[in-house]
Amino acid sequence: MAQILDGLKISKDIKQEIKSEVDEIVSSGQRPPHLAAILVGENGASKAYVSSKVKDCKEVGFKSSLLKFNDTITETELLSEIEKLNADSDIDGFIVQLPIPKGMDEEKVIEAISPEKDVDGFHPENFGRMALEMEAYLPATPYGIMTLLERYNIPTQGKHCVVIGRSRIVGRPMSILMSTKGNPGNATVTVVHSHTQNIEEYTKSADIVIVALGAPKYLKGDMIKDGAVIIDVGISRVEDEGPKGYHLEGDVDFDSCVEKASWITPVPGGVGPMTRAMLMKNTLLAYKRKF
Ligand code: GUN
Repeated sequence: MAQILDGLKISKDIKQEIKSEVDEIVSSGQRPPHLAAILVGENGASKAYVSSKVKDCKEVGFKSSLLKFNDTITETELLSEIEKLNADSDIDGFIVQLPIPKGMDEEKVIEAISPEKDVDGFHPENFGRMALEMEAYLPATPYGIMTLLERYNIPTQGKHCVVIGRSRIVGRPMSILMSTKGNPGNATVTVVHSHTQNIEEYTKSADIVIVALGAPKYLKGDMIKDGAVIIDVGISRVEDEGPKGYHLEGDVDFDSCVEKASWITPVPGGVGPMTRAMLMKNTLLAYKRKF
């Protein structure tokens, strides 16, 4: 029976550490860190994520600004809002919540964010610096997973880590971080994706499986080896008959995997809260780099 990697608990510890630093900053007479978020349109999940981020800012003592726009905003107008935030010395970091409306060029929008304020770590400059093992803002979800492994002292050196999914914000950066020098890190990494044949051949030999594909209950107990460490990044809204009309499901079939794994993240309460905590950490870092 696996032990739980309690992301909720660790995220609270991290937020508390951040809050202590912010308290010191403020009591020394300086202004607190300030995070801004741009939200475009009416995507329900995005609205929920952004309001959680605003709540986290309050919790750690940051100032936050939420800039909401209808999906009628043009790409040019959005780019000019980004320019304003780039130029605003009161804002230490900001994010553009993804996805942005169809028809807008996501790459162009992300590239418009000043790399020094890109606390999501999505700008190609930050991604490149991360891949080259230079100082960079790390994307929050992979950074959160690395931190969770670190705080639980999960060995990764020389281990076979299989990452399922190659998205820009999770799978791809995750695979890079797990193979980089350091602890955690130094893993032998295999990335599997929609064109991989017989994915279970890879997962069955993995010491660590990180699942980030957005397919509810995809990873089953019979696809993993005894004692594997299982990290579930998935968080899909699955419709049901309950009051909310949906519930959240991870990419891991928890009930079958918990029997065989040595460590496992729950959904909710695993990777999600770690992601949120690391955005706060990056924002504090952006602030400290400036002062
Ligand atoms: N959409 C899903 N995850 C994220 C995230 O971490 N940051 C932003 N900006 N958008 C997202």
